Amino acid sequence: MIQLQNLHKDYIVNGKTVPALRGIDFTIEKGEIFGIIGHSGAGKSTLIRCINLLERPTSGKVVVDGIDLTKLDDRKLQEQRRQIGMIFQHFNLLSSATVADNVAFPLKLAKKPKAEIDRKVAELLALVGLQDHGNKYPAQLSGGQKQRVGIARALASDPKVLLCDEATSALDPQTTNSILALLRDINRKLGITVVLITHEMHVIRSICDRVAVIDGGKIVESGRVIDVFLKPQHPTTREFVEQVADSVELREAVAHEKAAGDRTIIRITFLGEQTYQPILFRTMQETGTSFNILQGTISRMKDTPYGQLVVELEGEDDRSRQTIDVLRRRGLEVEVIEWN
Ligand SMILES: Nc1ncnc2c1ncn2[C@@H]1O[C@H](COP(=O)(O)OP(=O)(O)O)[C@@H](O)[C@H]1O
Ligand SMILES: [Mg+2]
Repeated sequence: MIQLQNLHKDYIVNGKTVPALRGIDFTIEKGEIFGIIGHSGAGKSTLIRCINLLERPTSGKVVVDGIDLTKLDDRKLQEQRRQIGMIFQHFNLLSSATVADNVAFPLKLAKKPKAEIDRKVAELLALVGLQDHGNKYPAQLSGGQKQRVGIARALASDPKVLLCDEATSALDPQTTNSILALLRDINRKLGITVVLITHEMHVIRSICDRVAVIDGGKIVESGRVIDVFLKPQHPTTREFVEQVADSVELREAVAHEKAAGDRTIIRITFLGEQTYQPILFRTMQETGTSFNILQGTISRMKDTPYGQLVVELEGEDDRSRQTIDVLRRRGLEVEVIEWN
């Protein structure tokens, strides 16, 4: 659906070249929710704005639905842009227009007949749960409601792609979750490809299928959220994953147990159906191993449940090794944090 090929973007500031994107390559599939995560200044906004050519790349290709946007003249580009909706951190609504007029704006620009505009606006407001707010002004709405207006407006031209630039970063956690749920709904119901950028791992974990980590204008890691999340490779990725892990308490627990001596400490990851099965207890019984659970979480990545347990095995190395073998053979991920 979207292919970025060797994308570079330099800004010229006071005669000096500031590289913002330094060779970006990836493909986003039709119908997926693709997340891009990075720290402030990493190049996220530049990157997402290159996808609809709000920002023109210095070099490289931007292919959307088979068409290289960098090759189009202005008129053709305008036409293609209608396929790509966008929402923003600060909503960018017209403050002097009502909610309904904000949503109608792109339709009026496209010179659609009034009856069609009215029908479409009503439909979009219902989709985002604002059917009773059409006559209000943006200042009368909460942050979450404003973003719903932004989403309705972005969907007015029936786009195939929705770009979200930190769309939940100005919202409190609860409102963030409701907007994420709405984006996921829209992705499912309308089959729209969603590209979102964020600096929050929580956002990635709750709705994305795949993720790319951007650092210093380069993609340093990418893949399925579940893989990147459970086995982060790059230090920047690890930092983001730690945002949603209880790592401080874990470090304390491990230090405490280590001090007690003769312990092997492992982290076990359960995925999908495994999460709810008593594999651990059965294995420990069969191998006659005593164990303690130091820490446990069960959570969900998009639709996949997963669990992680940090477990301390008592006894000799050989016995522990054997137990770990059995767990792995039964399909669990086992990482040894500390041999005794
Ligand atoms: N319009 C601009 N002019 C000059 N430099 C810019 C401009 N926009 C962004 N930059 C610079 O490009 C880099 C990436 O910025 P940006 O894409 O906004 O990152 P992010 O969205 O990840 O915070 C930063 O060093 C930033 O200062
Ligand atoms: Mg930004």
